[in-house]
Amino acid sequence: MMIDESMQGKGCGSDALDLVLDYIRTKPFGDSGRVALTCNKNNPIARRLYESRGFSVTGVEDDDEIELVLTV
Ligand SMILES: CC(C)(COP(=O)(O)OP(=O)(O)OC[C@H]1O[C@@H](n2cnc3c(N)ncnc32)[C@H](O)[C@@H]1OP(=O)(O)O)[C@@H](O)C(=O)NCCC(=O)NCCS
Repeated sequence: MMIDESMQGKGCGSDALDLVLDYIRTKPFGDSGRVALTCNKNNPIARRLYESRGFSVTGVEDDDEIELVLTV
């Protein structure tokens, strides 16, 4: 997810993430409930945003990327 720099900090990223999660909760691709993403470990802003929506760090890492998962 990337919001244009001039528009960051105005709520667009939160709104976009909430819309995506609302869509996923309708189970458009079947009955899976596991939502997984990766985030750079040196990106506390993004990590805080994902954790505020219930994502948790799984411990799986690939270079600087950490995996976070939410169950819906
Ligand atoms: C991460 C990103 C998608 C967030 O989108 P955004 O529109 O800026 O986020 P929002 O305005 O909805 O703010 C979400 C939270 O981040 C905080 N935040 C946003 N920009 C911030 C900044 N520059 N410094 C500190 N906090 C910031 C907000 O205060 C808010 O926290 P709160 O809910 O506790 O008040 C956006 O900053 C971005 O595109 N960054 C560059 C690309 C990137 O890092 N993508 C994520 C890859 S995993």
